[in-house]
Amino acid sequence: MLDTLNEIESTGLAELSAVTDADALEAWRIAYVGPKGKLKGAMGGMKNVSKEDKPAVGKRANEVKNSLESAFKVKKNGLASGGAASGGSGGQVIDVTEPGVIGSSNVGRRHIITRVRDELVDVFARMGFEVAHGPELEDDRHNFISLNIPPEHPARDPIDNFYVDPPESELPRMLRSQTSTVQIRVMEHMQAEGIEPPIKIVSPGRVYRPDTVDATHSFMFHQIEGLYIDRDVSMVDLKSTLMHFARAYFGQDADIRLRPSFFPFTEPSAEFDMKIALRPGDEPSWIELGGCGMVDPNVLEGCGIDPEEWTGFAFGFGIERLAMGKYGIPDIRMLFENDIRFLEQL
Ligand code: DAH
Repeated sequence: MLDTLNEIESTGLAELSAVTDADALEAWRIAYVGPKGKLKGAMGGMKNVSKEDKPAVGKRANEVKNSLESAFKVKKNGLASGGAASGGSGGQVIDVTEPGVIGSSNVGRRHIITRVRDELVDVFARMGFEVAHGPELEDDRHNFISLNIPPEHPARDPIDNFYVDPPESELPRMLRSQTSTVQIRVMEHMQAEGIEPPIKIVSPGRVYRPDTVDATHSFMFHQIEGLYIDRDVSMVDLKSTLMHFARAYFGQDADIRLRPSFFPFTEPSAEFDMKIALRPGDEPSWIELGGCGMVDPNVLEGCGIDPEEWTGFAFGFGIERLAMGKYGIPDIRMLFENDIRFLEQL
């Protein structure tokens, strides 16, 4: 009886592994585990088994039944999922080249500020500007003194800055409040390396000001700074660069205008506005973008550049403003809360 059961198990599993379609599978089921199948037939012999052998034979009969039935299930699943059940194990074959189901729609993307920053850098790079970076943890000299911002200037008020050291200490460190610091760092670096102008850089990055947070203000935001120093650079170059930028980024209808202003590190200084349709279909309108001007001779001199020989222009503007306008974002806080439901829409 045990031999018969062993025989049924081994031929059953062997035959099952050769099955490749549903019809053959059904035929196998009827032949082996169906009500009139081989296993049932063998069980009919139970009555002839001696009383003392019965428990062992019964146990073996159960094992064979379970082994055949579970192999049948594996095979059936394998056929149903379209994979040819592999030989022997009857295991399911997984096509690893198929696209995944879970997570396949969750492809990440760069944050909108990063994207706009890269677009801006791209446009300036096409005009020959290289990218320079400076530290966010700055010192008072790079943030103010070398930029011709005197000690009594209101911009230096501790109330308006994130000082890390006591403001009255020798060279207090602070979180930079403007990317104009990078102008100084680049000019100082060139001077230290003995490299002469031209200098043509843009510097995007974070800046920090302890403003009360609301829909248009944040304690941290992004600016992009530009600096061009060469022989005979004039206001004409400044204006045409900004104009080129506006048209390259917003289209040929874009316009710019300069309004006289004051910044300690430029002379003359101007604020610049752009007339742009921020979103397709909008009427172009003037938006105030940032500041610019001819680099003050004091700044050049302080960095070891002879203002009799070299002149230059600088400009700086905020990135959030542009990004919010371009993408119709009503509140600056949305850019930094990192709510995935918002970010997914951009
Ligand atoms: N740093 C100025 C600000 O944060 C913006 C600025 C004005 C940058 C004039 C310049 C400039 O380079 O020439 O408000």
